Amino acid sequence: MRRGSLAITVVLLAGIPAWAQDASKGEAVFKRCRACHAIGPAAKNKAGPVLTGIVGKKAASVPGFNYSDAMTEAAAGGLVWTEAKLAQFLDAPDAFLPNNVMASPGIKNPADLKDLIAFLKLHK
Ligand code: HEC
Repeated sequence: MRRGSLAITVVLLAGIPAWAQDASKGEAVFKRCRACHAIGPAAKNKAGPVLTGIVGKKAASVPGFNYSDAMTEAAAGGLVWTEAKLAQFLDAPDAFLPNNVMASPGIKNPADLKDLIAFLKLHK
């Protein structure tokens, strides 16, 4: 009896990573961003700003990038890219921040979105 419940506990614990964020899958999701965004220590601004260290960063604060008025105003209003805000923005950019100029339809699959944010978090 005790052995049985131990086995169940082990199975449950082993199952946890399947629900958690997976940064390696997130790297594949990031392919949808690479046309416009670079990330990593040597990243340079492209059509979109560098995303190195974006998690926890103040919005519109990458040096040398010319943000839209919408993004600049949101930043002036105190927008910081917490994981929650990133998830809202990346799910539906135009709904979260009307008149921003990021031409992306959003990431509709919640698992993809989680994995993507895990990947972004790796690049501090
Ligand atoms: C077609 C080009 C394009 C694509 C594709 C794109 N972006 Fe962007 N992104 C932009 C531009 C341009 C901005 C600046 C928006 C503004 O100033 O309104 C931006 C802004 C951002 C910001 C805010 C940055 C800051 O410094 O405040 C984040 C975060 C972001 N993008 C993440 C992503 C992610 C993640 C993806 C992939 C799912 C993605 N973007 C896809 C062009 C793009």
